[in-house]
Amino acid sequence: MSQHPDFSSRSAAAGVDTLFSHRWSPRAFKKIAIPIETIESIFDAARWAPSCFNEQPWLFVTSSNDKDFDTFLGLLNESNQVWAKNAGLICFIFSKKTFAHNGNDNNKAKFDCGAAWMSLTLQANMHQLHTHGIGGIDYANVYTTLNISPKDYDIICGFALGEIDLPNTLPDELSAKEFPSGRNPLDSVWQAGIR
Ligand SMILES: Cc1cc2nc3c(=O)[nH]c(=O)nc-3n(C[C@H](O)[C@H](O)[C@H](O)COP(=O)(O)O)c2cc1C
Repeated sequence: MSQHPDFSSRSAAAGVDTLFSHRWSPRAFKKIAIPIETIESIFDAARWAPSCFNEQPWLFVTSSNDKDFDTFLGLLNESNQVWAKNAGLICFIFSKKTFAHNGNDNNKAKFDCGAAWMSLTLQANMHQLHTHGIGGIDYANVYTTLNISPKDYDIICGFALGEIDLPNTLPDELSAKEFPSGRNPLDSVWQAGIR
């Protein structure tokens, strides 16, 4: 039997650290409580991401106990609830709409939130934990349920954070897809000079 996860579809250029090429988004999670110190270090890593005017427009709202968890889970589409129910926590990422220094619209905010999410994801991997981004959420109810002002913040997405489990713990149609995906070739995403 091949080893799980199988990273053979992920050949990276020489010198690319496995920090990047072995980051992936499993759906099979083991139901464990993540220690609070670990959670703190993961979200603290996000704080060190760069942002336009150092605005730090990200806001991460996480479940904090079993009761919360069910509420957060209920804000995901049913197809995502099926697997995310075993995560250690669920988080929603909001981005602040305006700059603090002048009140103008911040059209770089979501870009900055993405950098912060990647930072926390890599820190999570260092704790042997994984994240899985979730765009399939209940956009209509997320603001009121989490008591976040839609005037001040945009919802971007949710994500699950947890300890990975074996693919056979998932329903069959999901376990068949439980492997690290490949990528488009480098020359399709990187243009050196003017074509
Ligand atoms: C913003 C965002 C939204 C996503 N939404 C979903 C989702 O709703 N359901 C799901 O199963 N995966 C979702 N994903 C996971 C992607 O499908 C996954 O990251 C992509 O296929 C690349 O795979 P990898 O992360 O394992 O490298 C999402 C990822 C991101 C970054």
